[in-house]
Amino acid sequence: MSIVILAIESSCDDTAAAVIVDGQVRSNILADQKIHAQYGGVVPELASRAHQANIVPVVDAALKQSGVSPDQLSAIAFTKGPGLMGSLMVGVSFAKGLALSYGIPLIEVHHLHAHVLAHFAEDPTPDFPFLCLLVSGGHTQILLVRDHLELEVLGSTTDDAAGEAFDKAGKMMGLGYPAGPLIDQHAKSGKPVFDFPHPQLPNYQFSFSGIKTSIRYFLQAQVERDPAFIQKNLPDLCASIQYHIIEILLDKLVLAARDTGIRTVAIAGGVSANSQLRQRLKEVGLAKGWKTFVPPMDYSTDNAAMIGVTGYFKYKKGQFAPLTVKPEARIPLNG
Ligand code: KG4
Ligand code: ZN
Repeated sequence: MSIVILAIESSCDDTAAAVIVDGQVRSNILADQKIHAQYGGVVPELASRAHQANIVPVVDAALKQSGVSPDQLSAIAFTKGPGLMGSLMVGVSFAKGLALSYGIPLIEVHHLHAHVLAHFAEDPTPDFPFLCLLVSGGHTQILLVRDHLELEVLGSTTDDAAGEAFDKAGKMMGLGYPAGPLIDQHAKSGKPVFDFPHPQLPNYQFSFSGIKTSIRYFLQAQVERDPAFIQKNLPDLCASIQYHIIEILLDKLVLAARDTGIRTVAIAGGVSANSQLRQRLKEVGLAKGWKTFVPPMDYSTDNAAMIGVTGYFKYKKGQFAPLTVKPEARIPLNG
C-alpha cells in the first residue's frame, strides 16, 4: 500500500498544497500574495483573507496535478506553526475539515522541521548526522540533524533573523518586499566595497540587529551628503550587505562543524535560495572537506512539498495529531 499525503502550508503569505506519494513529490502548488508588497511587509489580516480565498483552488490543483483521487489519501499533513496565527488557522481548519470528511488521520508539522526535510524531497539526500543552517524570514538557527525526526538546536539568533536583515536593509534602500531576492539580483553587478561590523557572540548564537543599525546610520550619513547615493551605489550596497550577512552565517557554521566534527553540511529556509550563500557554502565546503547540500530552488522558500515529506516520515512512525490540534504562532523546534 502506498503512503499518500496531502500537505497544506499557510504559515505566512504563501498558500501551498502538495501531494507526496511514498516520499516522492507528485505535485507542489503555490499561490503567493502580491498584496503585501505595497505595504513593505506582510499584513497579517490581509494574509488570512488571501489564504481563505486561495486554499480551495490550491488544494484542488494539487490533487488534480498529482492524479491522486481523495479516496486514495492516507493522511493530511499541515503546518501547525510557527507563523502568523490567522494564516495558520486557515490551513489547520481546512486540514481538519478534510481529514474529518475523508476519515483519515492528521499529521501536524513544524514549519522549520519541514524546511530541513526539504532536503529529502529529491536525491541526493544528506547522510545523518548533518548540520543544517536554517535561514528564513523569521528564524536563523544551526541544527544538528540526527535523523529525519530527531533535531537538536545548537544555536539561534538573539534578535533578527537573516531574512529579516535582508528585508529590512532592502526597505531602507527603497526596495520592495521581500527584499532578499532583489538584493541577490542587484548584488550580481556590484562589489562588497562597504564595510559593516560583525557581531561578537559566543558559541553558535547570531545577531543581526547591530548590522541593521549600522547600515541605517551609514545610509543616513551618505544620503545627507548626496541624496542620490543609494541610487548611484545600489549594486555595491547590495553586494556589501549580502556579503556581510553571509559571512556572519558561515563563520558560525564553520565553528559548529569544527566543534562537532560533522562534515555533512546543509542550508535550508528562504535565504538558502540566495545565490551567493549557495556559492559560498560550496567554496567553504570545498576548502574544509565537507559534503554540502543546498535544497532545490522550489523547496528553499516556503512550499507544501516539504510539509508533505515531513508528514511522510511522521506517518511511517505513526505520529498523528488529534482533531483537537490547534495552530501555534510560536513553537520550539525539538523534532
Ligand atoms: O522560508 P521563507 O520562504 O519564509 C519563512 O518561513 O520566513 O523565507 C522568507 C525569507 C524572506 O526574508 C526573503 O527575503 C528571504 O527568505 N529570501 C532571500 C532570497 N529568497 C528569499 N534572501 C536572500 N536572497 C534570496 N535569493
Ligand atoms: Zn519558511
